[in-house]
Amino acid sequence: MKNIVLIGFMATGKTTIGESLSQKINADFIDTDLLVEEIENMSINNIFKQKGEIYFRDLETFILKKIVGRENIVLSTGGGIIEKDINIDLLKKIGIVVWLNASKNTIIRNLKMSNIQRPLLENENLDKKITALLNNRIDKYKKASDIIVDVDDKNIQEVVFSILFNL
Ligand code: S3P
Repeated sequence: MKNIVLIGFMATGKTTIGESLSQKINADFIDTDLLVEEIENMSINNIFKQKGEIYFRDLETFILKKIVGRENIVLSTGGGIIEKDINIDLLKKIGIVVWLNASKNTIIRNLKMSNIQRPLLENENLDKKITALLNNRIDKYKKASDIIVDVDDKNIQEVVFSILFNL
């Protein structure tokens, strides 16, 4: 089976779905956010604070370059991975790119249930900030993806099935 790459906005379930999908198809699971934290030995929140977003984005690119060529993987990515064009090229080299697409309501609901700190959503009107980021990113998610899976009103298993059904 080809590698599967999950992209999508923050709190659309990329890590949870990726883990579950990888178990189902017996593939290795890789998560760019976790790798960034491992490399830096620091939380993403602290990396943003101490080293800045550009540094973080460069690390994402570094990681993707290392992953190109690997086989039998499911890769989950950070929501902003599509911010750089070079990353979109790298994602496509790695595998079939699946965009987990969620409505703003689902994103807000998931964010409220999550205990992960998202540096880009701090100290801001959540609704306004998400709208701005979504508007800015939607075309990039479209450009990067081969398959779009809507996650609204689906549980983890249903999303996993939808991905496999659409491959
Ligand atoms: C980001 C999303 C985060 C993480 C970082 C930046 C973004 O990952 O990579 O906080 O720019 O959308 P999740 O999509 O897993 O929240």
